[in-house]
Amino acid sequence: MNKLLAAFTLALVPVLGFANTGPQTQPANIDLKDQASLQNGAKYFTSYCMGCHSLQYMRYNRMAKDLGIDDASLRKYFLVGDAKPGDLMTRAMRVDDAEKWFGVPSPDLTLVTRWRSPDWVYTYLKSYYVDPTRPWGVNNVMFPNVAMPNVLGDLQGQQKAVMSHHAGATPVAEGVKPLTAGTLSPAQFDTMVRDLTNFLTYAGEPVQLERQRLGVWVLIFLGFLFIFAYLLKKEFWKDVH
Ligand code: HEC
Repeated sequence: MNKLLAAFTLALVPVLGFANTGPQTQPANIDLKDQASLQNGAKYFTSYCMGCHSLQYMRYNRMAKDLGIDDASLRKYFLVGDAKPGDLMTRAMRVDDAEKWFGVPSPDLTLVTRWRSPDWVYTYLKSYYVDPTRPWGVNNVMFPNVAMPNVLGDLQGQQKAVMSHHAGATPVAEGVKPLTAGTLSPAQFDTMVRDLTNFLTYAGEPVQLERQRLGVWVLIFLGFLFIFAYLLKKEFWKDVH
């Protein structure tokens, strides 16, 4: 039995070992109740990302309602191109154009925080580094050889890779450090990326905000249902002895 246990434990070692190598994600600290952050994230998303990416199930006016954006602000700050409030938030670029320019289509981002995780998206957006061998002159620690250019590079400033040193293994980029200053301070940039990630997390499951409100009504309804069911039961059984 002990041998079996030892064999089992040993068999797990490589798995645990691998889980610890590779780039680490940083906590995005998302908070879906932070409406100001969600609004900022939406603003950044429509101005910096929607040229290439869509949120294909989200309508502008639904987003505005969920995030407390009034109609005038929605029209002034959020609508992309000639979109109308009732339109879906689809990208400005056509999918086949994106494929022509980047070699891959820029994916719809509705579920990105779910298939990756909010922390991954947050870290990814902060992990671009200069790499002259790549078509856009940049690469990414979290997504090696990524086809997306560093669209936030001017705000963040350029970064260089921190390479790994593991005996026998080819060095890989495992972190970044600053190379040039951007137009935002590091703290401002972190907040911006956090707001963007917060917004994308909301967009992945907009009903989360609604579910909490709905939950209360469901409980009240169940309460009433119980009382009626109880009274009904008493009524049915009152003559049975
Ligand atoms: C110029 C076009 C372009 C812009 C603008 C752009 N992206 Fe991208 N993005 C791409 C392409 C192309 C890919 C696919 C990369 C690949 O598969 O190699 C991508 C991939 C991604 C991914 C990874 C998806 C995955 O496969 O897991 C995320 C996250 C992402 N983009 C977020 C953003 C955010 C947030 C913004 C705005 C700040 C943004 N992108 C702006 C073109 C763009």
